[in-house]
Amino acid sequence: MRHFAGAAAHAGTLEHLRVAHLTDLHVGRVTPFKVQQAAVQLTNAAKPDLIAITGDFVCHSQLYLDQLTEVVRGFEAPVVCVLGNHDYWSGATEVQRALARAGAAVLMNQNTTIEVRGQRLQLVGLDDAYTGHADRAAAIRGLDPKLPMLGLSHIAEEADGLWAAGVPLVLSGHTHAGQVTLARLHELAIGKMAGHRYVHGLYGARASGGAVYVGAGVGASVMPLRVGERGRREITVFELGKQPGTIPEHHQEQPPGPGRKPSPRVQYERAAKVVARERRRARRGERS
Ligand SMILES: [Fe+2]
Repeated sequence: MRHFAGAAAHAGTLEHLRVAHLTDLHVGRVTPFKVQQAAVQLTNAAKPDLIAITGDFVCHSQLYLDQLTEVVRGFEAPVVCVLGNHDYWSGATEVQRALARAGAAVLMNQNTTIEVRGQRLQLVGLDDAYTGHADRAAAIRGLDPKLPMLGLSHIAEEADGLWAAGVPLVLSGHTHAGQVTLARLHELAIGKMAGHRYVHGLYGARASGGAVYVGAGVGASVMPLRVGERGRREITVFELGKQPGTIPEHHQEQPPGPGRKPSPRVQYERAAKVVARERRRARRGERS
């Protein structure tokens, strides 16, 4: 469990709203179900007003969607989420349905306003940028600049664009705090791996300009190994309405790494992989 204050802009517009952030649950074979249940218990014990989950709910298949619904149903606060690349690889429509069955709101390039104890918060959900589904213009359409905002995006590198739209804090995932990097050393060796500007934790400036938080995640998709203190499974609690620096925090805002934008070819290949998998599933469905 890690704790942080929200952005300075939240302190000016919200009295107090507690948001629990979880990411990369990867409900499936690699992550023990008891880990998912522990994550739900720890989250509920923190008594959040809202739970934000930033994608990669599954691993590689639709075999564990009932378990996913069971996990998300266990949360005692309202759940708002966005999808990740693994959700698109496994079937975004089916994952979205499994989440909806559990009562979660899935924001696919949309925003919504929630009200908690008389305080309103706009949630901006950017769809998965890794597989080419992010549409920022759609996600920010109709936002009220006077109301506080919180962004959700599986890919943290999209945060910069949301800051420009007035979203002072964006919650993200995908990197597993570097776990994915370790698991894909072979990709590194052939120079294919995209460099991340934001690997784990808090980056940018909550006082002005915008910040992004990259959660270490709950589950794993390839191998269960999690290395180092930063790489441990994580639930992060944000106290929106508290000024940055007024509560003890796990670490300070960090400068971003150099990063490397994926080339148009890489972007095309990532999008094409989703289509290829959809076709494969459709063919299998026809045969059965
Ligand atoms: Fe991901």
